[in-house]
This record gives sequence, C-alpha cells and structure tokens, in this order.
Amino acid sequence: MAMQVALKIWRYDPVAGERALREYEVSAPEEATLLDVLDIVKDQVDGSLAYRKSCRMMICGSCGMRMDGAAVLACKTRMYDIAQAGHVPVVSAMGNLPVVKDLVVDMEPFWGKIRKVTPWLEPGYSDPGETEHVVSQERMDVIHKESLCIMCGCCVSECNSLEADPDFLGPAALAKGMRFVGDPRDEATVERLQSYSEKHGIWDCTRCYFCQERCPKGVDPRDAIAKLGAEAMRVGIDSDMGAKHAKWFVTSAKTTGWLRETELVPKTQGIAKSLKEVKFAMGLLRRGKVPPPFPPHVAKDVGEARALYDLVKEQEREGAKGIVQGEKALGHLEPEAHGEGPREPYGEGSFARPYLPEEKEEGA
Ligand code: SF4
Ligand code: SF4
Ligand code: FES
Repeated sequence: MAMQVALKIWRYDPVAGERALREYEVSAPEEATLLDVLDIVKDQVDGSLAYRKSCRMMICGSCGMRMDGAAVLACKTRMYDIAQAGHVPVVSAMGNLPVVKDLVVDMEPFWGKIRKVTPWLEPGYSDPGETEHVVSQERMDVIHKESLCIMCGCCVSECNSLEADPDFLGPAALAKGMRFVGDPRDEATVERLQSYSEKHGIWDCTRCYFCQERCPKGVDPRDAIAKLGAEAMRVGIDSDMGAKHAKWFVTSAKTTGWLRETELVPKTQGIAKSLKEVKFAMGLLRRGKVPPPFPPHVAKDVGEARALYDLVKEQEREGAKGIVQGEKALGHLEPEAHGEGPREPYGEGSFARPYLPEEKEEGA
C-alpha cells in the first residue's frame, strides 16, 4: 500500500549562500522511513537534494538529521503515523555542526573531539604476548551501552553545553571516553580521567539530558558522563568546581538531609573567591531569600538520607557503580510493539545485566 507523505526541507546552497524552506509531497510505501522518503524526493523531484546515508539500518551513523527540531536517524524514523496525522514535518541539518549543503554537516569538529579522548585501548604493554587476554563478559557488560555508539552525532546536535561552548568535548566523545575508562584492559584510566576533567570536559556538562533523550542507540551519554565524574572523584581527581559541588551535595545531604546552599559557594569556590559574592548574598539575605546558615537546619527525616548513604557505602557502589542508569535504551528492545507487553529489560533473551559487586560474590 502506498501513502502520500509531505515534508518541508531546509535547503542550503553553499555556492549561492542561500537558505530556503521547500515543501515536497511524494507517494511512498506505508513502511517508508524518512530516509526512504528523501530517496524518493531525490529520485523523482529534485536530484540536487544532499544528505548522507549508507547502511539504511541504524548501524553506520551517516543519516543523522533533525526532524521538527530534534535529531533523528532518518533510517530509523517511520513516516506512517506522521503522514496519517496530516502533519508536515520540517527536516533540517543537525545542530552544533557547520552545514555543508542541505542536510549534510561537516563532521570534522565531531571527529576532532573524538580524537581528543584517545579513542583506542592503552593496554600498558607493547608486546601482546603469545596468548589471548581474556576478559569476562560481566566485566565488559559494564561498558555495554557506551560500546553501542555508532558516531552519528545526534547527541552532539542537541547538546546545550556545546551550543554555549563549542570547545566542550561533548556527549559522544565523553561516552567514548567512558567506553575505555570502564574497560578492564585499559591501563590509562587515571590519565584519561585527568584529561577529561579539565576545562571543556566532564564538569562542563549542564545535565540537560537532551543527548540521552535523542541518542537513537541507547548509549545514554549523560549517564556515561556521570560515570566519568564519579570515577574521577573515586581516584581523587576533584579539583574542578563541579567535583567539589558534587562532593558538597553528598556531605550536605548526609549531615542535615538537605542541600545547604549558603555553604555551597565557600565550599566549592573557596573563601577568597566567595568573598566576591558577599554583596550579592547580602542582597538575597535582606530579601529573605536565604535562610540563616547557623544553626544548620536538620531535616526531620535526615535518617533516610543517612541510611541511603550507608547503603551505598555498604554495597561498595563507589565511582561508576553508584550511577543509576536510565533504562530507556534497553526499553526500546522490549517487544511492546509486537503486543507482548513490557518485560524486564535485562530478562531472558535481552542483554546481560550490568555486573554489580555483590552479585559477583553470589554468582562466584
Ligand atoms: S546532558 Fe550534558 S552532554 Fe548531554 S546534551 Fe546536556 S549538556 Fe550536552
Ligand atoms: S552517543 Fe548516541 S547519539 Fe551520540 S554519537 Fe553515539 S549513537 Fe549517536
Ligand atoms: S543510513 Fe546508516 S544509520 Fe541511517
């Protein structure tokens, strides 16, 4: 069965330097994806339309673009529901990367960031020896999500921090970094964490979660960045204000059960720097917007915060092991679409569960 599909495309002609929104309507098979529709437009309407593609099956990462302002893989985006609803989506090039022509962006800034995180294994020896270096599946499961990345750039397209600071390493490069930090065969963990913790690194992420929302492969790059931050702090790399901030959150919650914001600035910026903020703080105080810091208010249910802290310690959830990951990615694999209802994402027939220390002991 065929359907009529209409869409608008932001065209960009680099020779004339002109940008224009053009509307197209074509007949396509009901199972057509956005990429199929673009192919039909190029084949039947305008051969000069430029976009990238290769595998057509969500593997190569070539066809990243924006539809209605959000990054998608064109070959993963079915058009049936959109066409049935009579909606005319607007298709444009990905964000945060320079447009070369129509829907094609220059990926060089993307690859430059990937190169900066040393995207290869540093095993710490030059002679690999005669035998294989076997790593258990459970150890590799820890970096399963990060290993799913296909380098499509959809996360980078939507990154708020990158929009403000083009030098920010960005979600794809940092997720790649976590892929090696979490790899038990890599011997450069501390050097990596040191380098990723510098300016434009881990702590410059605004935690907007747009990367996580838009990643078509379930890599969950924001979780990867959180894991890097936790690992950096675990090995004592905590001089960045972001790390100090995170540490103060824990101390504050543990001791009083709430975030003592009045102490946040001196604890993270130091006394000298925070003196500069005194005038501003006094203004807030005068307007009754800051509670007096002493004696510190202790929440009625502070015991719950302390119990949670003790539990995390007891379970040895130090570093990346303490980060609770989003399960949206694995949720995508659930067979809801086939009418079987949701199932446990790590259940039978799905991915192996990430390894947790106490489970290892049980299963050993
Ligand atoms: S969570 Fe961080 S890395 Fe992800 S899009 Fe937001 S700012 Fe960028
Ligand atoms: S993390 Fe996801 S969105 Fe980002 S490059 Fe990898 S696959 Fe694409
Ligand atoms: S064409 Fe390869 S991911 Fe879409």
